[in-house]
Amino acid sequence: MAKKGNIIVGQSGGPTSVINSSLAGVYKTAKERGFHKVYGMLHGIQGFLDEQYVDLSTQIHSDMDIELLKRTPSAFLGSCRYKLPDIHENPEIYEKIFSILDKLNIEVFIYIGGNDSMDTIKKLSDYAIVKGHRQKFLGVPKTIDNDLALTDHTPGFGSAAKYIGASTKEIIRDALGLTYDKAMVTVIEVMGRNAGWLTGATALAKTEECEGPDLIYLPEVSFDIEKFLKKVSELLKKKVSVVVAVSEGIKLEDGRYVCELSGGANYVDAFGHKQLQGTASYLAGFLKHELGCKTRSVEFSTLQRSASHMASRVDINEAFMVGGAAGKAADEGDTGKMVVIDRVSDDPYMSAAGIYDVHKIANNEKTVPRNWLNKEGNYVTDDFINYIEPLIQGDYQPFMVNGLPQHLVLKK
Ligand code: F6P
Repeated sequence: MAKKGNIIVGQSGGPTSVINSSLAGVYKTAKERGFHKVYGMLHGIQGFLDEQYVDLSTQIHSDMDIELLKRTPSAFLGSCRYKLPDIHENPEIYEKIFSILDKLNIEVFIYIGGNDSMDTIKKLSDYAIVKGHRQKFLGVPKTIDNDLALTDHTPGFGSAAKYIGASTKEIIRDALGLTYDKAMVTVIEVMGRNAGWLTGATALAKTEECEGPDLIYLPEVSFDIEKFLKKVSELLKKKVSVVVAVSEGIKLEDGRYVCELSGGANYVDAFGHKQLQGTASYLAGFLKHELGCKTRSVEFSTLQRSASHMASRVDINEAFMVGGAAGKAADEGDTGKMVVIDRVSDDPYMSAAGIYDVHKIANNEKTVPRNWLNKEGNYVTDDFINYIEPLIQGDYQPFMVNGLPQHLVLKK
């Protein structure tokens, strides 16, 4: 007879190429620790409220399935961007959540997500303590944006950075091959909302045989479009191919996102975040108009968070580690906390799982320190590169079937 009750795990927010490795880590640890059933919420807390969940033992049958899950991008269980109302605004929703938890004999609730998702863990753990519910609530970090406080970095970031670094190299090669006597400017747009960690990762393209991007603009520094134009035209006097990386979230001095200049950013999610898209395309059009040269815009868009064929081994392993650490922590009585990654050493790179109060993490955005950018605010420093480099190391080859990566998908 199983000695423990059940555990439930959900995925929330923008997916990553390693979020399922954390799910695998939770599942494996929960089983090893003797939890009876491991449930998965379908589409996070939003689906859970509609009683959409699955017994994960009907999905994961072997160690091979665990390995496949670790190599599967996007949220295996489905994700959501759902903001739980404050307790006083809607107490019924909390009563409903806890009645479903009790019905399923859930002892531990684990949520894999970013800072908005940690808001859910914070609210539910607070409620459980106030109302005397037995359930424990634990957060597992996840976001390509790397903007979570108190963790050295977030699972998902290293793989996205690896994809971005590699793709930037490939874009630079492509542009050089086609520019003989006619100049071209390529503008690359990278995700990351208000944090420039991923955009800075384009600098990884600067290697022995590649000069890397010419300019990098992060959202941490306000964007001056006239200075930008001057800088690009100066560069074009010296070279035929200019490659610029911009964050989707760069803003003008007056606070407007650059993508808003072309009418983008109309859609707003439950957390009040504008959908940022179109920055590179706007700037490429602007440069074409001002300079009369050929321009091209490239949006990495969803590719940067789903390219599991380019995942970093360090990242997949750490994602698995934090999932397991959450299962262990909850089993040992922790609640209202998020697992963090502590950097133990740089050379050789080593990390370990730690744990922190989720109240200090939820709704906080960790941005790139100003001194990791150059004085002009148009490139990152060596400290920035040294921080990222260990996180993109190693690969985790997909299982290839008929020439393409195979994934584990939910059977309904
Ligand atoms: O939060 C992760 C993230 O990838 C951000 O970098 C980006 O702004 C956002 O998600 C995009 O989300 P969506 O695909 O829902 O538009």
